[in-house]
Amino acid sequence: KARAAVFASGTGSNFQAIMETDDLSCDVVLLVCDQSGAAVIEKAEKLGVPTFVCDPKEHGSRIDYERVLLEKLYESDVSWVFLAGYMRIVGPTLLGEFSARIINIHPSLLPDFPGLDAIGQAYEAGVDSTGVTVHYIDDGIDTGPIIAQEEVPVYPDDTKEQLTERIQQVEHTLYPQVIRQLLEYEE
Ligand code: GAR
Repeated sequence: KARAAVFASGTGSNFQAIMETDDLSCDVVLLVCDQSGAAVIEKAEKLGVPTFVCDPKEHGSRIDYERVLLEKLYESDVSWVFLAGYMRIVGPTLLGEFSARIINIHPSLLPDFPGLDAIGQAYEAGVDSTGVTVHYIDDGIDTGPIIAQEEVPVYPDDTKEQLTERIQQVEHTLYPQVIRQLLEYEE
């Protein structure tokens, strides 16, 4: 079975959904978090998943920071990385080693609403539907090849919170499903 790491910065509801999926077709053996105090760390501890909290500010450059992460990934014998609310650009150090093995979930139908607060962007734009995208990472912001998308309706009287809730529910089933299918034939 493939060994994977999840990278997250915040609440960790996607991390939790991944961990609660039986037959994921890989083992999540590490949580990497760039924010000390993020709620996802406690979730990982409760689930017994080893955590690696690494503050980029303690390292001189993105290259130095990512070298530390790379070392940890190798030490943990990880071959896949799943970004789940990891609010940081992945640079060439990590991409070079894990290209085609780093995927991300984004709360919009890319290429619409890339970047920060995609749900807020869609809400403010007044669209009548948005969605969720799972995609490979490349060196752009939310521009990598798309693996799967699911549409989510926006209702006229939605609050931003209601829309967020509807999108996250879709994320929590779509991401584990994509991971399962993608890694099904991995050793
Ligand atoms: C998720 O909605 C994820 O799609 C989004 O952050 C949220 C994290 O929630 N990611 C991005 O916007 C990446 N650009 P979580 O911490 O509860 O999983």
